[in-house]
Amino acid sequence: MKNKAILQICSTCNSAAVKQNPERLETESPEGEKLLCAVQAAVEADPGMEGKLSIQAVRCMSSCKRSCVAALLAKDKYQFVVGELDSSAERVYDLVAFAKSYVEAEDGLPQWRERPQHIRKNTIARLHPFPSELSNDS
Ligand code: FES
Repeated sequence: MKNKAILQICSTCNSAAVKQNPERLETESPEGEKLLCAVQAAVEADPGMEGKLSIQAVRCMSSCKRSCVAALLAKDKYQFVVGELDSSAERVYDLVAFAKSYVEAEDGLPQWRERPQHIRKNTIARLHPFPSELSNDS
């Protein structure tokens, strides 16, 4: 199997949800944590994704104004940072669909038209593959 991909989700993102309801912080877990749980459940329910994607909770990725934020990365592949996510069924579907096409793409660069529209419009960064001369195992 090709290298496993990692989907990092900022579990501390909350600004978009707070904008909609300023009282929210007092009573609810961060929107990023909800997104993380929803994506984990969606990936676990998809037998085609078994063993292909590891999901990690991370803290702030310095893109709070574009929250919720997630990043996709894998060895020898492009890396993406995506924002404007939330735990709604639509956004969870978009993120998981993008992660699937990322896993399938040899270089981690899914065709533009294969990317969900929300992902196309809210990609914060596309980073080039990590330089092999800086890798521990090369
Ligand atoms: S808290 Fe999520 S990017 Fe800053």
